[in-house]
Amino acid sequence: MGNVYVFDHPLIQHKLTHIRDKRTGTKEFRELVEEVSALMAYEITRDMPLREVTVETPVAPARCKVLAGKKLGLVPILRAGLGMVDGILRLIPAAKVGHIGLYRDPETLEPVKYYAKMPSDIEERDLIVIDPMLATGGSAAAAIQMIKEMGGRSIKLMCLIAAPEGIKRVHGEHDDVDIYAAAVDERLNEKSYIVPGLGDAGDRLFGTR
Ligand code: URA
Repeated sequence: MGNVYVFDHPLIQHKLTHIRDKRTGTKEFRELVEEVSALMAYEITRDMPLREVTVETPVAPARCKVLAGKKLGLVPILRAGLGMVDGILRLIPAAKVGHIGLYRDPETLEPVKYYAKMPSDIEERDLIVIDPMLATGGSAAAAIQMIKEMGGRSIKLMCLIAAPEGIKRVHGEHDDVDIYAAAVDERLNEKSYIVPGLGDAGDRLFGTR
């Protein structure tokens, strides 16, 4: 069964509080989401393997560590996922970025793919799927399925806020995927918004409504 990791670092929690606040405007919201994303990337990459190399310092040779193992790929789900990408890239600039766009079919209510472009070596990368608001989990579960069908093997899901319903759905369909979030909230409301959540992440990021 997949795990859920909630990042309780004080800086992440402090910034998330301001992100949630309805008085926070678009510019500050976007900046805070970027900052939290960078802090979360720091935590999420804790288990990355290292290997030893020797470098010459101005004084002497030094045995040091560099990242080993697989390279990273980020896959934001459009459009709100875009808001977390730059913060992560600030820490991991070599990561490649795929994109996946889904809309909900108004009749079946099932997610339908309208755009997908992945790094060419997707099979060889550790992938982080980015969905800031894990609400029903329908889009995230569908995106992960599509990414697997395109060759993705090693997948983590990164969210700002997750609802219990979304966690259950993703783990019900993908028990190999660990979920990383800054908070797990109470529930969904009748419009499938996370309560208390932060509202519509896409609208707050891009100043739309
Ligand atoms: N998507 C959002 O942006 N917010 C929610 O609360 C749920 C889904």
